[in-house]
This record gives sequence, structure tokens and C-alpha cells, in this order.
Amino acid sequence: MKKRLNIGMIGYGFMARTHSNAYRKVGNFFDLEYTPVLKTVCGLVEEEARAFAARWGYEKVETDWRKVVEDPAIDLIEICVPNNFHAQIAIAAAKAGKMIVCEKPLALNAAEALAMTEAVEAAGVPNLASFNYRRIPAVTLAKQMIDEGRLGKIFHYRANFLQDWTISADVPQGGMATWRLDAKAAGSGVTGDLLAHCIDLALWQNGPITSVNAMTEIFVKERKSVESGKMEPVVIDDACTFFCRFGNGSMGNFEATRYARGHKALFTFEINGEFGSLAWDLHDLQRLAYFNHNDEGITRGWRSIHVTDGDHPYMGKWWVPGLAIGYEHSFVHQAADFIESLSTGKPVGATFRDGMETQRVCDAVLDSAKSGTWVNL
Ligand SMILES: NC(=O)c1ccc[n+]([C@@H]2O[C@H](COP(=O)([O-])OP(=O)(O)OC[C@H]3O[C@@H](n4cnc5c(N)ncnc54)[C@H](O)[C@@H]3O)[C@@H](O)[C@H]2O)c1
Repeated sequence: MKKRLNIGMIGYGFMARTHSNAYRKVGNFFDLEYTPVLKTVCGLVEEEARAFAARWGYEKVETDWRKVVEDPAIDLIEICVPNNFHAQIAIAAAKAGKMIVCEKPLALNAAEALAMTEAVEAAGVPNLASFNYRRIPAVTLAKQMIDEGRLGKIFHYRANFLQDWTISADVPQGGMATWRLDAKAAGSGVTGDLLAHCIDLALWQNGPITSVNAMTEIFVKERKSVESGKMEPVVIDDACTFFCRFGNGSMGNFEATRYARGHKALFTFEINGEFGSLAWDLHDLQRLAYFNHNDEGITRGWRSIHVTDGDHPYMGKWWVPGLAIGYEHSFVHQAADFIESLSTGKPVGATFRDGMETQRVCDAVLDSAKSGTWVNL
């Protein structure tokens, strides 16, 4: 008989869907000691929360997250709400002894992220910051190849996350649909929203960042506020580019924007080392490009690894070799690894502490853009 893992989902938006979907599927593909149970969903509008509960199979609906956190029947709190609620919910959940999975960025800033990390560590509760891209098989394979030393000494790490959804000056700021443009709800613009993903992967694959030099821009200076109905200054960063140095001596180059016409979610990274290079692209997520300088000269070249074989990360759990999986599966893998960690007692990343490290880099990037100088970490 499997143990039950009762889930309290805070939020019923985009991420609540990806996480609910993952908990529904994970037990069908992974052998786990716990069965996730979609117990309670909480959101601001009761009718909408009810509709979400009916669609995904939640047993109960709440509109106040405190009730879910205090409910003794709940084992795991899932934080899938805007960034300004992460710290208060996570700290209350840790005090109540709940396990916590929190969407990224972990918090509005590094100070909040530190308080959250201290709270989960003091309470000794399992915790995870949802940097789901770590668990796309091609990305996990890249990490394995780096750890095996196949690239040798690393010289360059570069990453981009490009979108184009805020180019129109008519897009408002604030409110339920555009909270990402409101500094109070989001903390920052593309730095916390998009670069946080790039930074998490970079720290995981290439180690600590020691200094940054950044530039940000706000292309549309005023937008209508959904709350006040008036034009108000835009405070969040629309675009951000930064250089950095890593502790291993390599150089980094990162860019994120919501003004790259034609790009919806072009997340890419490339790593150049002494013996080879790796490159990945979210739009072609099941492929990993690999150049191995040790190959025989006349056939040497970039190869495109279709990461769908049974011995590739996670792929043995899915269909048959050659058949691709997609975006949603990164969340299934995250759920599987987290649930397995409850049995092994070995924490899996990104932990809150890892999320805090990413947040420290985000803060340093924003400080550097403001001061126009290098910032050390
Ligand atoms: N891992 C990823 O790739 C990824 C992608 C998108 C969003 N995110 C993160 O996930 C979080 C949620 O983003 P989203 O895209 O799902 O947002 P969303 O706008 O789709 O949904 C937000 C939800 O929060 C709820 N909410 C807001 N205030 C609340 C409160 N006080 N109490 C209870 N519920 C409340 C809303 O009802 C809504 O259901 C953010 O932190 C975001 O940065 C991560």
C-alpha cells in the first residue's frame, strides 16, 4: 500500500496546471513510495477555483491560503502564485511543518529568499524551488556530460531567454493577467522572470558566479495601471544583458528581453570547453548539440543528439527510443525526483538554498545595472 502525499495547491493559473498535471501523471510512469493526492486548491476567485478543482480532480477549494497551510490533512504546499506571495506563504508553511515546492523566482529579492531558506532549514522540511528546465532530458544530459569532464576546462557560458509579448505600449501593467509588469508583484522584470532560469542552469552546470556587470532597459516608459486606471511609470526591467565571471575562471554572457520580435520563449545556452562544446535550444528541446574535438578530424563536426534513447536521463520511463517528450514532462520529472527524495531522505535541487543563490545573482545584476559598475558576489 502506497503512502498518500496530500497536496495543497496555492494558485490555479499556468503553473498550477503544469504541477497538477505532473502529480496526476507521475505515478503512472515512475515507481514511487507515495501517491500524490490533489487535496485542496486555493485561489482568489472561488468560482474559478471550483472550476479548476473540477477539471483537475481536487477534493476541496479554499480562497484563503492560510487555511490550506494550517490544514493538518495537507502534507505538501505548492506555491504557484505571483512572486510577492512566495515568502509569506513559504515561511508560514515551514512553521506549520509542511513540505514546500515553490515556483521561481524563489522571492522578490535575496533578503526574502534568505528568510525563506532559513525557515525551511530551521523547520527541517523538504523544499524545492521549481527550476523545471533542469529536468528536460537534454539539459540533464548536458549536466552529466559536463560533470564527466567531457568538455574539459570551461571557457565560455552564454544563455539567452527571448520573448516579444510586451512590445505594444497598450499592454497594461498590474492586475491578474499582467502582474509580471508590476514591480510590487514581480520584484523585477525579465531578470527574475527569465534570467532566473538561465542563472539557475548556469550555477548548476558551471558553478558559482563571482562578479557581474549588467545593463537593463525600459523601452515603454509608462503603461496603464490595471489597479488605478491611470498611466504610471514602468519600473520593471524590459530587457537585461549581463556579463559575468565564474569561480572556475570562465566568462558568462546572458541576455533576456520581452522585445525580441518573433521569439516567444527562445531559451538557449551554449558552453565552450577545452575538448568540446554543448548547445541547447528550448524550441528543439529534445536535441542536444555536441561538438567533440577528440573526434577523428575528417568526420569531426557538431552532432545533434536526439535525447530519446532508453539510457538518456528519464527517457527509460517513457515510450520507446526515438519518441520525443516535451515541456510538461520536465514538471513530471521534478515531481518524481521530489517524491523520491522523500523516501531516500536526500534533498534534490534546486533547493530553496539554490534558489536563494540565483536570487543573489539577480540582485547583483540589478544593482550593477543601476550603478553602472561591476558587482562582486
Ligand atoms: N517554472 C516556470 O517556467 C514558470 C513559468 C511561469 C510562471 N512561473 C512562476 O510561477 C508563479 C505563478 O505564475 P503563473 O504563470 O502560474 O501565474 P498566473 O497568473 O497564471 O496564476 C497566478 C495565480 O495566483 C493566484 N493568486 C494570486 N494572488 C493570490 C493569493 N493572494 N492567494 C491565492 N491565490 C492567489 C491567482 O488566482 C492565479 O490563479 C510565479 O512565481 C511565476 O514566476 C514559473
